[in-house]
Amino acid sequence: MQHDDNTSTERPAFVTHLECSYTGERLPADTVQNLSPAGKPLLVRYDLAGVKKALTKEALAERPPDLWRYRELLPVRRAADIVSLGEAMTPLIALPKLAAKLGAREIIVKDEGRLPTGSFKARGLVMAVSMAKALGIKHMAMPTNGNAGAALAAYATRAGIKSTIFCPEDTPEVNVSEIELQGATVYRVNGLIDDCGKIVAEGKSKVGWFDVSTLKEPYRIEGKKTMGLELAEQLGWDVPDVILYPTGGGTGLIGMWKAFAELEAIGFLGKKRPRMVAVQAAGCAPMVRAYEEGKEHAPRWEDAHTIASGIRVPQAIGDFLILRAVRESGGFAIAVTDQAISEALSEVARSEGLLLCPEGAATYAAYKQSLADGRIKPDERAVLFNCATGLKYPLPPVTRTLDRHAPIDFAAL
Ligand SMILES: Cc1ncc(COP(=O)(O)O)c(C=O)c1O
Repeated sequence: MQHDDNTSTERPAFVTHLECSYTGERLPADTVQNLSPAGKPLLVRYDLAGVKKALTKEALAERPPDLWRYRELLPVRRAADIVSLGEAMTPLIALPKLAAKLGAREIIVKDEGRLPTGSFKARGLVMAVSMAKALGIKHMAMPTNGNAGAALAAYATRAGIKSTIFCPEDTPEVNVSEIELQGATVYRVNGLIDDCGKIVAEGKSKVGWFDVSTLKEPYRIEGKKTMGLELAEQLGWDVPDVILYPTGGGTGLIGMWKAFAELEAIGFLGKKRPRMVAVQAAGCAPMVRAYEEGKEHAPRWEDAHTIASGIRVPQAIGDFLILRAVRESGGFAIAVTDQAISEALSEVARSEGLLLCPEGAATYAAYKQSLADGRIKPDERAVLFNCATGLKYPLPPVTRTLDRHAPIDFAAL
């Protein structure tokens, strides 16, 4: 086995068509597409019976541990179009001390901060950019809360594709800098991510760029889907009882739900599904409101604010898909305050040595809240998604100093 087998070897592809997630209308694969004619996200469909014949768990186990090991369930047909920066499988990290403290069976973090550009956005963007390369796209643009823009910048540059990125003006400094440094042109906009999205949409006809906004093209979700494929494989082809996912645009949650269905269709999983829990911040919780009101769609959340910038998404085009996955799975949507997020971040770092991002910390805060109100049972195996490295975010200052020239009171250290 060569370390780059997954990205250098030709493997059979099984994409059959694209399908409107709302109406079921079919569109041809291998053509440049944004939304469906109904204005809804497009999903990639595969000949799953063909995948079932072509792929075994044993063959998969032999492959190098990166996202491209699932090629048969991915849209990129030719190895030459794969634009990789080393998308390693991310580890599952148990939180045994906190589980013991809470009297819970098992809490596991899937730590996505290990991916290129430090977040799970790499999964979606590596796929979107590889497909853009395959389809001959020359210029891509997107609105971002930071992490997605960083991943687009890195992969687009790698592929020789121009990228233009728009972020809210208070996007974390490190994100804005990494985007620019990785070869994109980035603009701070005095608005939120959906305001940035309007600029990208308008520029489509005026500049001619390809709009790679969340769920406005079919392939980011295919990349995010690999979180579900990987998780099931890492658990020995099983799923946890409950997944807590920090939900903004919802691509990851929708993608994992799609992954589990595809794994069942190819005989790798049974009927069991995890309960999907959409975690949002109290200052921006459109999905929670729609879930509680029993609605299919989630109207815009006004005055959105939270320290978890990645999930500050006032309105999501895939709202009905998020809510559908949450309800079909028997899960729920839950909001946590910024204070609970900060406390969770500190608690996990100080007791387990694991630095989460605020969005990841939100899932731990939501877990504790749900355990307390009985929506999650202590005997359930829970997986929390930490979607980015905590190092990308402002950290609390440390003020303790020591004068090496003065006598040191070692007894007090
Ligand atoms: C760290 C982090 N967590 C969660 C999210 C939300 O992801 P999704 O769009 O899949 O809901 C984002 C999106 O920007 C993010 O950066």
